[in-house]
Amino acid sequence: MFDVEVIRKDFPILSREVHGVPLVYLDSANSAQKPQVVIDAESDLYAHHYSNVARAVHTLGSEATTAYEGARDTVARFINAPRREEVIFTKNITEALNLLAYSFSNATTFPGADQFRLGPNDNIVVTEMEHHSNIVPWQLLAQRTGAEFRFIPIDDEGRLDESALDTLIDTNTKLVSFVYQSNALGTINPVAELAARARAVGALSIVDAAQAAPHLPLDVQALGVDFLAFTGHKVYGPTGIGVLWGRYDLLAALPPFLGGGEMIETVSMQGSTYAEPPHRFEAGTPMIAQAPALAAAIDYLTALGMDNVRAHEGAITGYALERLATVPGLRIIGPSTNHDRGAAISFTLEGIHPHDVAQLLDERGIAVRAGHHCARPVCLRYGIPATTRASFGIYTTNAEIDALVEGLSAVQAMFG
Ligand code: ALA
Repeated sequence: MFDVEVIRKDFPILSREVHGVPLVYLDSANSAQKPQVVIDAESDLYAHHYSNVARAVHTLGSEATTAYEGARDTVARFINAPRREEVIFTKNITEALNLLAYSFSNATTFPGADQFRLGPNDNIVVTEMEHHSNIVPWQLLAQRTGAEFRFIPIDDEGRLDESALDTLIDTNTKLVSFVYQSNALGTINPVAELAARARAVGALSIVDAAQAAPHLPLDVQALGVDFLAFTGHKVYGPTGIGVLWGRYDLLAALPPFLGGGEMIETVSMQGSTYAEPPHRFEAGTPMIAQAPALAAAIDYLTALGMDNVRAHEGAITGYALERLATVPGLRIIGPSTNHDRGAAISFTLEGIHPHDVAQLLDERGIAVRAGHHCARPVCLRYGIPATTRASFGIYTTNAEIDALVEGLSAVQAMFG
């Protein structure tokens, strides 16, 4: 295990005050704070090595390209990808999932891409706990292709209703796209099992690992999935960069999404041919300075050890569940036990709107998120307009959980 107090010193923002009191940052599921090594990596690229990548033959171009491609190696190791060419850099996970959805619809006219074609007899399966970025791209794909859009419902505890799987995932299912760890509920889903269900009917599995990548060891080979995506800013890395990983044989047959520079093999006015993965999917000037900063974040996490990260956050989450259970009128939305759940806890406080809760906590220096967390179907499922969510990271302490619980009591006192 690591020493949280030592880790906190690596994050400059954690020493600041908000409204005259020390910051208690409980919004890492929304975006994680950055250690100095990440801030330095991005600034170092601009200060000493900056140039465009791939195109330049000069020294700076070669240094920037080495940094950018080196980050690809780092990501490949982080998720245990069999090949570095399977790692595609995107703007964020939303772009990664849209890239897939649009590449699938481009398969309609793309030679050799029959396996990705969808039509009115096919269906796409997601879950009721998805973030909007893993719902809307598939709804749009269903509209473009005539495919049916289905979802696996969730139960009262915020777990998938697995009894529905046999009827929902059938031989007409082409895609099963699901979240590893829910941002709104904290639920950790049985990824390997869902991927196996998809594979058994010949469907492709796609995993939203945005909330899993910062908290759990990731191994795409052990999970047996076809595609997986995550975003840089939640793994203590920079904004503006995300990752799409896909099995090489699939990527090699998948049509491109964005056309432009660097994604081609050759271009003429009569037509174009396309580069091999990953470059086929990285049109235009990419996130040159963000890639080495993402690599620095991953190196930082790897040095801590993802098993240690999971253990620390498991302990914090267990403590938070225990303490929150003592707050009168507090209802946890999501698993109330610390089994198969991650470091984000959504809740409602009887008679007080979640936005009021968040605003009053902010006056005490406590940052939490309120709203539907871009997973509105979850709120609809539980008949609530919104929740307040406290989410934790490697730098979260028990004292911060105590501050949250005291803050909630103060909020309740204010509302009488
Ligand atoms: N940023 C979104 C959240 O807070 C995904 O959960």
